[in-house]
Amino acid sequence: MNTTEFFTTKNSEKLFVEMPVEIFRQWRDFIYEKTGIYFQDNKKYLLESRLMRRLLHLKMSSYQEYLNFVKAAPQGRYELRYLYDAITINETFFFRNQSQLDALVLKVIPEIISEKKNLNQNKIRIWSAAVSSGEEAYSIAMMINDLISNKYPDFEFEIMGTDISNTALEAAVRGIYSEYSVRNVPIQFLKRYFRKIDNYYEISPMIKGMVDFKFLNLYEDVSMIGVNNIDVIFCANVLIYFDQNSKIKVINSLYRALNKHGYLFIGYSESLHGISKAFKIISFPKTIGYKKE
Ligand SMILES: C[S@@+](CC[C@H](N)C(=O)[O-])C[C@H]1O[C@@H](n2cnc3c(N)ncnc32)[C@H](O)[C@@H]1O
Repeated sequence: MNTTEFFTTKNSEKLFVEMPVEIFRQWRDFIYEKTGIYFQDNKKYLLESRLMRRLLHLKMSSYQEYLNFVKAAPQGRYELRYLYDAITINETFFFRNQSQLDALVLKVIPEIISEKKNLNQNKIRIWSAAVSSGEEAYSIAMMINDLISNKYPDFEFEIMGTDISNTALEAAVRGIYSEYSVRNVPIQFLKRYFRKIDNYYEISPMIKGMVDFKFLNLYEDVSMIGVNNIDVIFCANVLIYFDQNSKIKVINSLYRALNKHGYLFIGYSESLHGISKAFKIISFPKTIGYKKE
């Protein structure tokens, strides 16, 4: 394989040359095997432009060379974090799905609490399973702090946010957001739970302290096996990047991780139709949840 034909330098500018189809297929298979993310043929240009940035950074001359590098242990294992950053789309914002948050605090948590009281339990575990830069998990934390915690002082709420992108997780831990990101935050929440610094909004230490962030690949069995006893899972706007088989695999893992009578919420444009029949569909105002019976 000629490794110099894909990039060329003219007037000291790097020029982008197309990825050969065979190399695209090898990249697609590798990414799929690692993450469940499937690049359709019409997304080849997207993969090219995303890999190119990293390739230029590493001063490599072809996609093939970069693939060999990522596949080789041990440096490949380290490089994976950059690869995952490069191929994921981390778009998110606060209060992206208000109807789900309302369903959570008005219906789901009170229902779970009344069951837990009968079992003499007092902890509720909530998991934002593709949390990106943290907005979803912090939105949940604000809603719980505002509408739930005082009503149920004996209950403990554990909120976990996980993602495959370390850069997104670092932003979550930093907790500083643009005006655009907070555009849907109710004004009273903005005042109560954020500090404005120039044009940025910093989440309050109290809300930050309610959420634990960590790296987790939803497609990796060994990691998923370690997550158990979850009462509510939010897994929104990530299934769209998976093919049918990876959706089935990930949803089965989420089902297993849930407690009996736990709930799963997915994105507006996503559905479990053809993916899983294990859940009972529960209707809430303007949204639905999937319940483990
Ligand atoms: C578009 S964001 C959705 C964020 C948030 N859930 C929302 O609805 O606003 C999709 C996130 O899924 C993450 N992701 C993609 N594949 C993943 C995988 N295999 N395991 C864990 N996270 C993954 C990406 O890194 C990205 O941050």
